[in-house]
Amino acid sequence: MNRYYGNIGDVWKHLVLAELLALEPPKHYWETHAGSASYPLTHSPDRDYGVYRFIERADSVPELAESRYATELRRLAADGVAPASFPGSALLAMRMLGKDAEYLLCDLDPESVASLNAAAAELGLREKDVVREADGMTTVVEEARKLKGESEGVVVTIDPFQPFEIAGGISALELAAGLIEDDFKVLYWYGYDTPEQRSYPMGVLREYAREAGTSVWCGDLMLVAAAGQSEQEVEQLLAGAEGPGAGCGVVCGNFSQASLDRCARLGEAVAKAWEDARLPNGSPGALEFLAVSS
Ligand SMILES: C[S@@+](CC[C@H](N)C(=O)[O-])C[C@H]1O[C@@H](n2cnc3c(N)ncnc32)[C@H](O)[C@@H]1O
Repeated sequence: MNRYYGNIGDVWKHLVLAELLALEPPKHYWETHAGSASYPLTHSPDRDYGVYRFIERADSVPELAESRYATELRRLAADGVAPASFPGSALLAMRMLGKDAEYLLCDLDPESVASLNAAAAELGLREKDVVREADGMTTVVEEARKLKGESEGVVVTIDPFQPFEIAGGISALELAAGLIEDDFKVLYWYGYDTPEQRSYPMGVLREYAREAGTSVWCGDLMLVAAAGQSEQEVEQLLAGAEGPGAGCGVVCGNFSQASLDRCARLGEAVAKAWEDARLPNGSPGALEFLAVSS
């Protein structure tokens, strides 16, 4: 389950994920924290600021209109303007990659697992071993050991529930670092509460990447109004909203420069589409995009 579904953090994560899967379709798609297949798409302050704004504005910003994420949402909406349900990252991947990929979708929550199994069956993927009711961190570590020689064909989404918690001897950031070092393609999501924390996972990941002779890219969206504000001031700014705080971002490892350039254009396009957005409490909700490469 993802109680934050459809917020701006989800929109940015899924926008990048869908684009990267279309540009570099992997043979294997893995998720450490898959969540449910989909969620009822209903209005809430966070979804109004997130996915509903995306749906309303995407058509007027060419980069967003042409994005794979917008295409998937249009496909799900069929004849309507908005889909009846909001797809999670795992469902997006299964719909886009279909039977051409092998999946490893981990979640500890039996309800999420049941919904993923139902979605896999509906897409005709049931004969494959798609979903695991297991800890995603240790499961991915084990599978990565087995597929080390084929790592370039694997995309791993790490959407950590508790980014700093050590699960099975490893934190989500250490897992991302190890996979990037071993040439797996990694998409790591993060959110943060204060502007000083902007793009913080890069501090660790760029060092690991440098030692491994590779590079990482970070695409970060932060509330313009959060700049120079304390955590308490950011909390006031966000009154009535739930997460992701001052900003959020994705760190991508081992994708091509052309794909990352495309994601950077999507980040700029989101900032443009959110220029006159308002937060639930009426404060300015404009976003600033920052791309950082190692
Ligand atoms: C934020 S949701 C995932 C959202 C999803 N990745 C998306 O973008 O649509 C987080 C999920 O992580 C699951 N979870 C928490 N700890 C976990 C763990 N150690 N291993 C696997 N899943 C876990 C929760 O049950 C929850 O469904």
